[in-house]
Amino acid sequence: MGNRLSRILEENQGRFVSGQEIGRRLGTSRAAVWKQVQTLRRRGFGIEGARGAGYRLLGRPDVIEEADLRFRLRVHSLWNTFHILSLTDSTNSRAVALAESGAPEGTVVCADAQTGGRGRFGRAWESPPGLNLYVSLLLRPRVEPPQAPQLTLVTAVALAAAVEASTGLSARLKWPNDLYLGGRKAAGILAELSADADRLRHVVIGVGLNVNADERDFPPAVRGKATSLKIQAGRAFPRVEVLGRFLECFSDAYRLFLGAGLRGVLPEWRRRSLLDGKRVVLRVHGDDVAGTAVGVDDAGLLIFRREGASVAERLPSGEIVDFER
Ligand code: BTN
Repeated sequence: MGNRLSRILEENQGRFVSGQEIGRRLGTSRAAVWKQVQTLRRRGFGIEGARGAGYRLLGRPDVIEEADLRFRLRVHSLWNTFHILSLTDSTNSRAVALAESGAPEGTVVCADAQTGGRGRFGRAWESPPGLNLYVSLLLRPRVEPPQAPQLTLVTAVALAAAVEASTGLSARLKWPNDLYLGGRKAAGILAELSADADRLRHVVIGVGLNVNADERDFPPAVRGKATSLKIQAGRAFPRVEVLGRFLECFSDAYRLFLGAGLRGVLPEWRRRSLLDGKRVVLRVHGDDVAGTAVGVDDAGLLIFRREGASVAERLPSGEIVDFER
């Protein structure tokens, strides 16, 4: 009920809506509308009431609620089970545990904050409350195990599309798993898979997206290198809106991937590639190697030419630790 009222107020974008009109749309009395307004105010919504004019929305709390998220998804959505937590160690760890106890494809785990957020190569992912998105997706695709890492590129394409649709900014992708805005990292992806010799059991895809963090919210070590949607766009974004868009963009990209393989999404990846033709430093198994990132091949491998080499190599994993700006 409260969600329907908040949606009516949201649709009117800060303009007054009369109590009578709201009551008509909700099928309740004006007195019942007033009670619901009180409930929303207790939940942190800013609602102005004026005699003769009605009610208008001044602000909403930036919380992610399941009903609100579901409302933003298509009717026959890929996503069916939601674990929306205020605090957890790591949404990836939660999703892996759920996967191992038989949770279905289409399970989403999202947390307001993480105490043990994990990044690639065993690094920590700072996850303060109230600002960003920390979300993990559980998938059980019927693809060969060697294809599973390609889902990182599929996710990056979906994330870029969702960020662009939400903000109007242009997102760039840094192989294999980073999303950049204005030359700085705004999001990272951590895919973890479980497979038998010839069969993929599940894939968990974790996404950390900096949404409303300000410069001061980043730890000193990444200040100047990290960014957020808010820093780049100059305004804050409701996290549930960005998450809803991402989940829908992911469904589209995932469908293309299942139908046509990586080539279904590669044009969208290449169009946003940050590194093509640039001189980079690549870290492989602890060694830093200078060379050129030529591009990404049809299987999602990095085409890399070492300095001085005449032939390029294709790498399934690694980290670009520095690149020509
Ligand atoms: C990276 O760039 O190193 C990847 C960062 C991935 C962070 C996300 S936040 C949600 C999910 N849960 C985790 O513990 N990690 C991922």
